[in-house]
Amino acid sequence: DYENRGNCTHLSLARLSLSNWQPVGTFAMNSKAELSRQQAFRGSVLHFLEDPGEHGRSGAFEYHEDGLLIVVDGHVANVGSALELLPKLSTTTTLTDCSGKLILPGFIDAHVHFVQTDIIGAYGRRLLEWLEECTYPAERAFADEAHAREVAEFFVAELLRNGTTTALVIGSVHRTSVDAIFTAGLARGMRLIAGKAMMDRNCPDYLKDTAASSYADSLALIERWHGRERMQYAITPRFAPSSTPEQLAGAGRLAREHPDVYVHTHVAENEEEVAWARRLFPERRSYLDVYDHYGLLRKRAAFAHGIWLDDADLARLKATGAALVHCPTCNLFMGSGLLDLKRATAAGVQVAFGTDIGGGTSFSLLRVLHDAYKVAQLRGHSLSPLRAFYLATLGAARALDLDGRIGSFRTGREADFVVLDMAATPLLARRTSTARRLAERLFLLMTLGDDRAVSKTYVMGRLSHDRDGLDSRPQ
Ligand code: GUN
Ligand code: ZN
Repeated sequence: DYENRGNCTHLSLARLSLSNWQPVGTFAMNSKAELSRQQAFRGSVLHFLEDPGEHGRSGAFEYHEDGLLIVVDGHVANVGSALELLPKLSTTTTLTDCSGKLILPGFIDAHVHFVQTDIIGAYGRRLLEWLEECTYPAERAFADEAHAREVAEFFVAELLRNGTTTALVIGSVHRTSVDAIFTAGLARGMRLIAGKAMMDRNCPDYLKDTAASSYADSLALIERWHGRERMQYAITPRFAPSSTPEQLAGAGRLAREHPDVYVHTHVAENEEEVAWARRLFPERRSYLDVYDHYGLLRKRAAFAHGIWLDDADLARLKATGAALVHCPTCNLFMGSGLLDLKRATAAGVQVAFGTDIGGGTSFSLLRVLHDAYKVAQLRGHSLSPLRAFYLATLGAARALDLDGRIGSFRTGREADFVVLDMAATPLLARRTSTARRLAERLFLLMTLGDDRAVSKTYVMGRLSHDRDGLDSRPQ
């Protein structure tokens, strides 16, 4: 019943004597399964109930410096002060002591290409050259099932190592790539949304599908994967320039036929790309309007980048409930531009963050928050740490219409969470030792933190990454 991994201890309350602990329940239930049904995690617990806004609106979040998160059968049963809740625990509860660390809902990466894992850090290009010279050749290899599986395994392990428990993932044009990523996610019990890229023009022949084949392949993948455990499908036209009007019409038809499936694509990322989209679709008011025309704007539709959208575009995103995914790490690396996050949120658009691996250079949402802060500074405003962590958890869950399942510790939510170590590096330890306020600590985590600050990651209450012990393994 007792194991010690790193500096978190796991022990059964049946063996624990606490000064104010009174047994509730019974010692009679003794099967191993029953013993592990209820788990409790002690640490500083933070989750959001609402958007804290720019000034950390009180009541928008719940924080217990010495808190307890109680999980039953992989779902949140309760959260509160440790001293209040510990006495009420059943005697068979497994208690994990993460005192001094921060327990937060798992991060959500709302835009990431798993098929670009091996091209991160390609020197010296902007978007359109990068696609031609680096990305398309690398994606070609995903026709091979063994390659796709090997990369998918590495990729999901890397998500978990970085505290990401849910991701919206773009595959390659090949069905095999989507089978591979869902298979890897399923093995770990993760929540993933993924789709095959639809692309039938303006790309190498070896990556082209057709309007008909992309419709049929996407439909087959929806039937195979959508709603299977925690897997959900995203209809994924890569971006308007690489789809014919026929293919976009097929994507729109598929979306109409499957209202609970996601739509996922890129929009208005880089000026050359925007000009190209205009040339290809001169009859449309804007790049976003191309997608709108084909019925692709709606709730459960996520548009990556959106740096160059205008006010009318933002109003359409808001009106339709579609989400914008801010990918500042990629945007800086590629020189694509500085999204005005404040303008987008003030327009009422739902926003989430994406790493956008492999145009992005880190799997860490902490690093993405850091870059989002800097980009906001360059835009003349500040991204508050509370807002940043909200957007990486509950805000993203809302943007993806998943807040009924993940993103917070409200009762009944799936217990995906991360344990962050505020003393992960000598510098973090030194700086956080004098930081008393929550906002200050969060800001230091997003300024100085990365994968090293992720002590543990739990997926539905199950330890799925342990920095100081187990590596991530399939169930
Ligand atoms: N636009 C179309 N394809 C891509 C891609 O793979 N990465 C990024 N960042 N933008 C794109
Ligand atoms: Zn992308």
